[in-house]
Amino acid sequence: MTIQPRKVPIGLDGVPAAETVLSNVDGENGELIIAGELVGPLASSTSFEGVIARLWTLGTGVVTTEAQTRRALGAGRQIAFARLPHWLNSADGLSVVDAFRVGVAGLRGEEGLSADTVIVGALPVMAAALIRRRMGEAPVSPDPDAGHAADLLRMLRGTAPSRAEAAALDAYLVTVCDHGMNASTFAARVVASTAADLFCAVTAGYCALTGPLHGGAPEPVLEMLDAIGSRERIAPWIDGALDRGERLMGFGHRIYRVRDPRADVLKAVVGTLGSNLRDLGFAAEVEAYARNALRTRKPDRPLDTNVEFFTAILLDALGIPRQAFTPVFAVGRAAGWTAHAREQQRTGRLLRPGSLYSGERPEN
Ligand code: ACO
Repeated sequence: MTIQPRKVPIGLDGVPAAETVLSNVDGENGELIIAGELVGPLASSTSFEGVIARLWTLGTGVVTTEAQTRRALGAGRQIAFARLPHWLNSADGLSVVDAFRVGVAGLRGEEGLSADTVIVGALPVMAAALIRRRMGEAPVSPDPDAGHAADLLRMLRGTAPSRAEAAALDAYLVTVCDHGMNASTFAARVVASTAADLFCAVTAGYCALTGPLHGGAPEPVLEMLDAIGSRERIAPWIDGALDRGERLMGFGHRIYRVRDPRADVLKAVVGTLGSNLRDLGFAAEVEAYARNALRTRKPDRPLDTNVEFFTAILLDALGIPRQAFTPVFAVGRAAGWTAHAREQQRTGRLLRPGSLYSGERPEN
């Protein structure tokens, strides 16, 4: 028996899995289009609710406005708050990421609200309540009239954020809301294609997001910055990690062959926050040394800064504990998961790829 040589790209690199009007990643040119617009201008001109409205309109084919989305999400946050106690009690003893998974999996429909609204409305309420619970604090009820990003920070802290902080988190949520056929979106689309409901699709998306090769990277980015600690230790620490064959968190990407455009968007957002920043100069030196070391060691494979490096610095500056970075990422990415799930369902076609069998065959 001969084992056939592998003919399937092992990571499905470059294999289109769906046709979408929601977003496009151009890895050669470092360009990300979301709902027809480049991510940079989009993040500086449109609120998270505005982008959600555009994604949901594209995904469902039914026009939704920013004002309708804002009202609906306010109602979604209130419903989620009323349902908090049961889940919060059951989440004790779990890590923040795992407790959030339990919460996402436990979401269910509400009369008068779409599943999309229940889901996207619930995530910031759950993230904020979970973080407060870890600090021994009671949850803070949502303000249905506030923006989604501002309300997340308010529910987390118990006081309203500054305008700059709310705008920074809003820009972050827009920047990460969708990104082509990334692993979590693919997972959500596969589940949606089976005609399972949106709650199942989003639970699958969140589970895929938690891995450190995808949305679980920003916490390790901060751990890396902490472990390096001082300017003199940058070179030996990074060289040592690469000598041991470790991956530097916040660098590299499956698709981008140049810099991840989201890194620059978030770097600019970080710059608007001024006072509550960790040492940005130090982070910039770590980034520069890492990029150079990766270029020297992998001359044939451009590896540059990805979105997670500045996500870590931004969320840290906003006072979000690092254990909650992945749930906060999910608050943004849920916009894309729900839109993709709707778009997939409209095709009416089960996703069921083939495989190449390279195992043994029975003797005749
Ligand atoms: N540090 C060091 N080496 C790296 C890194 C890195 N961050 N990324 C890739 N490489 C190396 C690989 O080990 C591989 O080396 P080899 O050829 O000697 O085996 C080579 O570069 C090529 O790797 P790719 O095939 O381009 O990497 P892949 O597409 O499998 O991985 C990934 C992409 C998972 C993002 C990877 O770059 C990585 O692990 N980065 C660190 C984790 C991270 O930042 N994740 C967040 C990604 S952004 C997001 O999902 C939201």
